[in-house]
Amino acid sequence: MDDKQSQEEYFVVKAKENGVQVIGLTRGQDTKFHHTEKLDKGEIMIAQFTAHTSAVKIRGKAVVMTKHGVMDTEE
Ligand code: TRP
Repeated sequence: MDDKQSQEEYFVVKAKENGVQVIGLTRGQDTKFHHTEKLDKGEIMIAQFTAHTSAVKIRGKAVVMTKHGVMDTEE
């Protein structure tokens, strides 16, 4: 997959409790947090990997959907 394609990919996070954090990490040499989005129970975030974001860390109880499947952070 080339870089362009990897940047078009979407993922979905559905919070199962209040205060779930979706943390974006920077693309490139440095891997740093650049954005933290807080979701409350039942809230959904639909986001892409972009030129600025190559990795995402999720804290808290949530369902995460990617092209690799559906994952629950609790299991
Ligand atoms: N400005 C960020 C970007 O374009 C917004 C963003 C995209 C983001 N995907 C994300 C922030 C995932 C947190 C998590 O890269």
